[in-house]
Amino acid sequence: MTFQVEITTSGHRFPIEAHETILDAALRHGIGLPYGCRNGACGTCIATLEKGHLHYPDGEPEVLDEDAGNQVVICQAHATSDLSLSVREVQAEQDICIKTLPCRAEKLERLSHDVMLVKLKLPEAERMQFFAGQYIEFLLRDGRQRAFSIANAPHQDEFLELHIRHVPGGSFTGHVFDEMKDRALLRIKGPLGSFYLRENSSRPILMMGGGTGIAPLKGMLEHAFHTGLDQPIHLFWGVRARRDLYMDELPRKWQQEHPNFSYTPVLSDPEQGDDWQGATGLVSEALLAGYADLSGHDIYMSGPPVMIESAMPALVAQGAAVDKMYSDAFEFASDVLDKIKQNG
Ligand SMILES: Cc1cc2nc3c(=O)[nH]c(=O)nc-3n(C[C@H](O)[C@H](O)[C@H](O)COP(=O)(O)OP(=O)(O)OC[C@H]3O[C@@H](n4cnc5c(N)ncnc54)[C@H](O)[C@@H]3O)c2cc1C
Ligand code: FES
Repeated sequence: MTFQVEITTSGHRFPIEAHETILDAALRHGIGLPYGCRNGACGTCIATLEKGHLHYPDGEPEVLDEDAGNQVVICQAHATSDLSLSVREVQAEQDICIKTLPCRAEKLERLSHDVMLVKLKLPEAERMQFFAGQYIEFLLRDGRQRAFSIANAPHQDEFLELHIRHVPGGSFTGHVFDEMKDRALLRIKGPLGSFYLRENSSRPILMMGGGTGIAPLKGMLEHAFHTGLDQPIHLFWGVRARRDLYMDELPRKWQQEHPNFSYTPVLSDPEQGDDWQGATGLVSEALLAGYADLSGHDIYMSGPPVMIESAMPALVAQGAAVDKMYSDAFEFASDVLDKIKQNG
């Protein structure tokens, strides 16, 4: 049975099935209602019921006081009629609570010679709400931090998916490749950053990723397809050689499935035997060559700082609006930068 939910504070409406929670239905339709634990313990998701009837199949959540009145724990409540709720929607990174959490490396899988897929599992009673494209930091025992982008979309928050490139001589990424075992215990902080999909824009989107810079863009794209964004989206993915296109088949599949999506892989340094017929050179040059006038586009860029720094002026020279360009530069960690500065 299907009912309708109205969020009176925003005017958003979405259908809900009798067997799902209000929160699950909202997230399924790309509506950012606030949440934390998703198991009725923290109270982050409490909303006010203005109209309608609901029930709690697993019993009344402990977080509700006896005099809770018309307060509703939306991560546990199911609808038994059409509903009107008032609740503040999550619209910007400031609206999301940044948490420090333990987690497990549930799955480690080599995606290429130097990229590892790491799937992090949070404790049963915890979830991390995030915007597609944000990142987390690993908090290391010695106090250092290492940043990695979240490569999955928020509606699939059971795991956090990361694509970790092995930095030659890198202490943390070396550990991930050489020593870390499945189910290793780690500590993370997040979600962080303001690099996320601006869903309220209907302008065509250009995305440019360098190497593992594809990771946050993958999360954004999965979110965009899930919520049905229908403006044209063109992804440019720049790597050195064919072996670095560690998930080439996924955007190729998306291109078949979504008429508004196109994909251009670009190799800067093809190897002998790559037999490459596609674009070559710098990924930014491929994008600039394809779009003479960038004034109507939203542009998302992530990857090596040098890629982003060198692309910015050229994009602006071709009309890109500074306030419509969003980027995450994969900078060295602050302790490494300090060392580089000290050594002149
Ligand atoms: C917001 C943000 C998001 C990020 N997302 C991702 C991601 O999704 N996937 C990913 O693979 N990386 C990502 N990075 C980069 C990642 O944080 C670094 O590669 C990581 O900190 C390296 O840690 P390490 O301890 O292995 O190397 P360190 O021991 O810190 O460094 C060893 C040496 O490697 C070099 N080095 C360090 N960092 C980098 C770097 N970023 N690029 C090139 N050389 C470096 C330096 O010469 C340094 O002396 C992101 C960075 C930021 C800031
Ligand atoms: S009570 Fe924690 S998210 Fe609902």
